[in-house]
Amino acid sequence: MARSRRCGQVLVLSVPFLALAGCGGEQSSLNPAGRDALSISTLFWVMLAGGVVLWLLVNGAFYYISRVRPGAFDQRYARHVLIGGGIVLPVVVLSALLVWGLSILPDPRRPGDGLVIRVTGEQWWWRVEYWPEGADTPVVTANEIRLPVGQRTELHLTSDKVIHSFWIPALGGKMDMFPGRETMISLAPEKVGTYRGQCAEFCGASHAWMAFAAVVMEEEAFDLWLADEAADARPPASDAAMRGEQVFFSEGCGACHTVRGTEAVGLVGPDLTHVGSRQTLGAGRMRVTLEDLSAWITHTDVLKPEVKMPSYDLAPEHLSDLAVYLKGLK
Ligand code: CUA
Repeated sequence: MARSRRCGQVLVLSVPFLALAGCGGEQSSLNPAGRDALSISTLFWVMLAGGVVLWLLVNGAFYYISRVRPGAFDQRYARHVLIGGGIVLPVVVLSALLVWGLSILPDPRRPGDGLVIRVTGEQWWWRVEYWPEGADTPVVTANEIRLPVGQRTELHLTSDKVIHSFWIPALGGKMDMFPGRETMISLAPEKVGTYRGQCAEFCGASHAWMAFAAVVMEEEAFDLWLADEAADARPPASDAAMRGEQVFFSEGCGACHTVRGTEAVGLVGPDLTHVGSRQTLGAGRMRVTLEDLSAWITHTDVLKPEVKMPSYDLAPEHLSDLAVYLKGLK
């Protein structure tokens, strides 16, 4: 009996540590890779430490009074403890934490260094436009955000139909995206790497499948990538890819998707001009491999419930050619 009670206590005490152990990795506010995320994680740790100290003080006092020296204090002393510990101490500590917390909190509307990225939340993917300083037309892509390291980039956010929330935990706080209104968050990544962004507002059946890769690059590599991204799609490089392109057009994929440099100019779904060079497929759902491309095309409604794109029932050779064509769009 005593043993199982102790086990229970150990379990309860270890829960917070188990929970924290799950907070590492590419999608974690506690693993900051940007200036704003660093402020937020510092805020978290200081608040946590403050909370633990207060918890120990209150429970220590309770234990002392109830177990160590019960009945040792008179009414007057108790009143002092109540006023001091119940009113004065919390007001002082909480006011100090509030003032300090507000001073350290990152300002999401801080102006950027020039590059603007416009992101539209769709059900359930991300329409992405890069507007370098002085550009007249954007570089359009989807489901991936690339940022130059050491620069503050403005992300101008809006939405198609419902409210979404843009969040890259490793880089900063979250910002809601509303239909018919533009919100802004600026991010200053400080570590090169690939992180994970996730929609943080319930937006329909496939909300949980609305993610993206956030790739932080050296400035030079970013400029080269953006120039490449602005170019038209490369023509198919093999017989299989050429046949795949024919399947793409005969199945009507171009009615919903754009592949710049071809007749596909659809705007309903994600731009596929350079889909083969992205880190993920289906907004963080899968990898861009031949197997995943085939699985995506044939099981879209299973992999992302209620998405607009229907599942296609293609002959196996057409399907594999189409996957080769899409993977070759780099
Ligand atoms: Cu978009 Cu949740």
